[in-house]
Amino acid sequence: MRHHALIQALPKAELHVHIEGTFEPELMFHIAQRNQVQIPYASVEEVKQAYDFHNLQSFLDIYYAGANVLIYEQDFYDLAMAYFEKCAADHVVHTEMFFDPQTHTARGIAFETVFEGLWRACQDAKAKWGISSHLIMCFLRHLSEEDAFETLAQAAPFKDRIIGVGLDSSEVGHPPSKFERVFAEARAQGYLTVAHAGEEGPPAYVWEALDLLRVSRIDHGVRSEEDAELTQRLIELKMPLTVCPLSNLKLCVVNDMSQHNIRRLLQQGVKVMVNSDDPAYFGGYMNDNFYAIADALDLSEEELKQLAIHSFEASFIDEAEKQKWITKIRNLAV
Ligand code: ADE
Ligand code: ZN
Repeated sequence: MRHHALIQALPKAELHVHIEGTFEPELMFHIAQRNQVQIPYASVEEVKQAYDFHNLQSFLDIYYAGANVLIYEQDFYDLAMAYFEKCAADHVVHTEMFFDPQTHTARGIAFETVFEGLWRACQDAKAKWGISSHLIMCFLRHLSEEDAFETLAQAAPFKDRIIGVGLDSSEVGHPPSKFERVFAEARAQGYLTVAHAGEEGPPAYVWEALDLLRVSRIDHGVRSEEDAELTQRLIELKMPLTVCPLSNLKLCVVNDMSQHNIRRLLQQGVKVMVNSDDPAYFGGYMNDNFYAIADALDLSEEELKQLAIHSFEASFIDEAEKQKWITKIRNLAV
């Protein structure tokens, strides 16, 4: 319980959260009923019992099934507003939210339906809680590059409201190099780029994300530590790693939180910060992730502040906004 008051009080930015991964079982049941969609569970308890994962794929199978109940613009709005409510409670003041268009367009839901629901929630969250946000569209890496190109084309009418593209889903066997051309096209169109790499996949995938996809951040990246030269490169580049501690524990990337490398990476000078990934599935939102590592790794006040500072430094907000939040963090006394 050390430092919990500080963690609560720190302003934080969340840079790695999949909006489909914030779908709480209660809301899933509610929307399933509203849309008259069958789900293969009898109760909220039964859903939660199914959340017993042994690797990334075992989670993804359930995560994609859950998203099937989302059909209307209002569903995407409700999903995002529920997440923003958690942000407000955790003092997350800025978020850069991933969404997976292909999970929905493959089921016949229009890109526009997904996007406009999320966008309206972003506007309302700013008005209601003062929370700012950006949207990042991810390509599903288990699908083809051609499919990603098609998604990029569908995004064109909304381009000015999407800050970047990302890469998620089943990592092993789907290296960043598979998406080199579509990322080049996305960059040419003005999108920033990020990519999941080094979660379950090897350090070689992190090199590829840097060299071929020209990313501004690596999502996860915790396996980078296995390659000393790569770790050095990340430090030199000041390349952010959007680390997700509870996710790593639940998906067995680490066996115990006391073995998590976020503190070691921080001490070496890597720009790591804390994120929740898929909080409805992994047992906690931003502050729960902070509590878990603060307790297991005995983090100091200074280290906790540094993690929060990194979250703003690594964000896509403008320099003046960054400095405003960083100054608040530096001056915070709890
Ligand atoms: N999609 C949602 N969460 C993910 C994760 N942790 N890794 C890869 N793809 C994801
Ligand atoms: Zn993720």
